[in-house]
Amino acid sequence: MPETPQRPADRSHLVTPGRDPHSARSGTCGDLRMEDTGDVVVLKGWVDTRRSFGGMVFLDLRDRGGLTQIVCSEETLGVEAYETAQELRREDVISVRGEVTERHDPNYELATGRVEVQAAELAVLSVAETPPFVTSAHEERAGSGDTTEATRLRHRYLDLRRPELQENLALRHRFYRVTREHFDRHDFLEIETPVLMKSTPEGARDFLVPSRLHAGEFYALPQSPQTYKQLLMVGGLDRYVQIVKCFRDEDLRADRQPEFTQVDVEMAFATEEQVFELIEGHMAALWREIKGEEIETPFERLPHEEAVRRYGTDKPDTRFGMEIQDVSRAFEESGFRIFDSIIEAGGHVVALVAEGEANRSRSAMDRLDEHVRNEIGAGGLIYFKKTEGGEVESSVSFDALPQEHVERAAQEEAGAEPGDLVLVLAGHAPEVFEQAGALRLHVAEQMDLREGEDQFLWVTDFPLLEWSEEEGRYAAMHHPFTAPHPDDLGKLDSAPGDVRSRGYDLVLNGHEIGGGSIRIHDRATQERVFEALGIGEEEAQRRFGFLLEALRYGAPPHGGIALGLGRLVMLLAGAESLRDVTAFPKAQSAREPMSGAPSPVNEKQLRELSLKTVGVEEGGKAPSVEDGDHRPTAASSSS
Ligand code: AMO
Repeated sequence: MPETPQRPADRSHLVTPGRDPHSARSGTCGDLRMEDTGDVVVLKGWVDTRRSFGGMVFLDLRDRGGLTQIVCSEETLGVEAYETAQELRREDVISVRGEVTERHDPNYELATGRVEVQAAELAVLSVAETPPFVTSAHEERAGSGDTTEATRLRHRYLDLRRPELQENLALRHRFYRVTREHFDRHDFLEIETPVLMKSTPEGARDFLVPSRLHAGEFYALPQSPQTYKQLLMVGGLDRYVQIVKCFRDEDLRADRQPEFTQVDVEMAFATEEQVFELIEGHMAALWREIKGEEIETPFERLPHEEAVRRYGTDKPDTRFGMEIQDVSRAFEESGFRIFDSIIEAGGHVVALVAEGEANRSRSAMDRLDEHVRNEIGAGGLIYFKKTEGGEVESSVSFDALPQEHVERAAQEEAGAEPGDLVLVLAGHAPEVFEQAGALRLHVAEQMDLREGEDQFLWVTDFPLLEWSEEEGRYAAMHHPFTAPHPDDLGKLDSAPGDVRSRGYDLVLNGHEIGGGSIRIHDRATQERVFEALGIGEEEAQRRFGFLLEALRYGAPPHGGIALGLGRLVMLLAGAESLRDVTAFPKAQSAREPMSGAPSPVNEKQLRELSLKTVGVEEGGKAPSVEDGDHRPTAASSSS
């Protein structure tokens, strides 16, 4: 006989009819201590666990404040209410009234663990079906949360009951508070800017909103309020800050969401130094108030070119050394074909010294080589080991790559000590440096070096422009309003790729947590930069005419920065992903798994907007289209 699916038993009879019979709660489930014994309290919350023992029922009652043990016995509750207590299940919502007493079996891990409440009255406010996963505070601490993220996001309201997520959101709240206090102290005004706006040039794809009143026209959701905050400076508003939602239609990563929050800042008459000092003060306040730590200011600064040369990235993790060393000199005329041809063509042989790692096994080195080829995309890994006895060994035979060259590279150029492992890659700039940078992080991860004291860093002197192969023209590395370095203005026409900008990024432990610049505030320079970007007069007018016009009416010199709020909270909380610090995040697919957004709309809605969906395939997949204005390189550099 076919099995009939079991319907959850109807438990609604447990719910106390009418209004909650108890008065308002006297506190949260995290409040009670020894000094409260003897008090009669009312607690309300979710049943975290229920245990029956020796004719009594023990409940852990949970709310945002914590957990309190509730003791139910027939003696104090009476027959009927005691029977109800026996039927309680996880996540039922109850109200309890009773006396606080000392616990005979104290639980010192719990803030409330020395007391319990002897339930004299019990009311069930709401019953719960068996949840699709366990949200118990106990289980979470025990680390048994192996439910897939998809299930958690689908029932996010249940997931949010986990103390870990609640703590992250509480931390995020403190972040808002400290931020507003800091900027208020420095005389900044929080000003809202439009959400329906003209497309901004941050380099990613826009989310578009069709206009009903202006058929065929679209608003864009802000990739950032960049143009508006500059216009506020022209408007004399001098010091602006906004905790603001930004929207970028780009691929998701652990530290990237399509909608995310910035602390957006702009200052008139600002110098780089003023921006740095303001933000360093902000970070110091956050670390002090949220982590109880004093951080060292001012932060270190590193020109972009040096960051790439020493760390292979514009967002180096400087909590450890293992810097990239150019050892090309040691291999000149070594007779080793691969190196010779790369060096002759202007390429580089670069090395990383992994201290004390010379004893890695052959198979471990093979796995590392595989990682270098498959994940990092380099041709292959060569390595040298300096043994404890001081000998130098090489992964390439000394017949092919003579010992003297290996020794010169490992010892003189890279400075390897006995017991060290030297990892070597060869290739052309910038790729070989980027690959060495990725290898540096991978090996550091294996060596547990990516931890320890937080390290902030300003990366400065970014190139103004970067060449876009796809478009065959230069693109702005930050955005087109970034001021060129005054010393490099002369190169704007002759060598645009060499012009440095007045842009800067704030980096924390290898994460880009902020970016900004001193802006162009005169029309002549702005027009020259547009020209270098291949943006013609007509295009400039069409896209940013309003800003160009504003620059004609006495624009103050200005500059600013935007901090990635989610990323900072994620790092402050020690979380792995923006999803762990966002109440309702998007999944990898860019969907919001609970509501299912985005979703199709009905014909009437489309008609009102003068829209038609064309060629949408089964499953909502859009037909492939020309990429048009999208610049993936600029997009990735801008975030
Ligand atoms: P930028 O594009 O560098 O600058 O953005 C500033 C910071 O915002 C964060 N961020 C993101 N966080 C989560 N998900 C994303 N998709 C995402 N994209 C960016 C990063 C980044 O450092 N208007 C300029 C700022 C300025 O020039 O003042 C801007 O938006 O932490």
